[in-house]
Amino acid sequence: MKKLTLSILAILFVFSLSLVSCGGEEETKDDTNTEQNTKVEDENAEGDATVADYSAGKDVYVKTCQVCHQENGEGNEAFPTLKDKACNINTVVNGVDGTAMVSFKDQLTNQEISDVANYINHTWGNNFADVTVDDVAASAK
Ligand code: HEC
Repeated sequence: MKKLTLSILAILFVFSLSLVSCGGEEETKDDTNTEQNTKVEDENAEGDATVADYSAGKDVYVKTCQVCHQENGEGNEAFPTLKDKACNINTVVNGVDGTAMVSFKDQLTNQEISDVANYINHTWGNNFADVTVDDVAASAK
């Protein structure tokens, strides 16, 4: 009788061990899945950026605009942020009298201005309409 009780206990013990280890495995699997899902999303985000190529506009931005509007587009006390608003083509082409924002129509080609506008419109979380070379030409005063 004692032996039977012991073996039942032993079986229960082994059974509960296997339950615990199953649970553990499942948790590990879940973690891996979450990580994989996150990675896939990241890859997609990067993928989107490569599909549309804004590198020409980025070059213009880094050389011509970044000194004031900063690398992260957020500007500072003196220069406005370019985040969360569509790039104002009229401002870039004609400048704003009496401010540090000069007219760029003689410094940059219409192609360069549309490139930089599209870079701004699709960077730092911005997602605004594409700007064509014709849009730029049309806004020159
Ligand atoms: C010397 C500093 C300086 C440089 C360089 C400069 N900006 Fe500006 N930018 C300003 C200032 C100052 C303003 C705010 C003008 C005003 O008071 O309306 C401004 C405003 C703007 C705005 C309007 C922002 C809004 O609030 O709608 C845009 C768009 C912009 N700049 C884009 C550019 C682009 C593109 C370049 C590069 C080709 C550039 N800026 C280069 C100083 C600068």
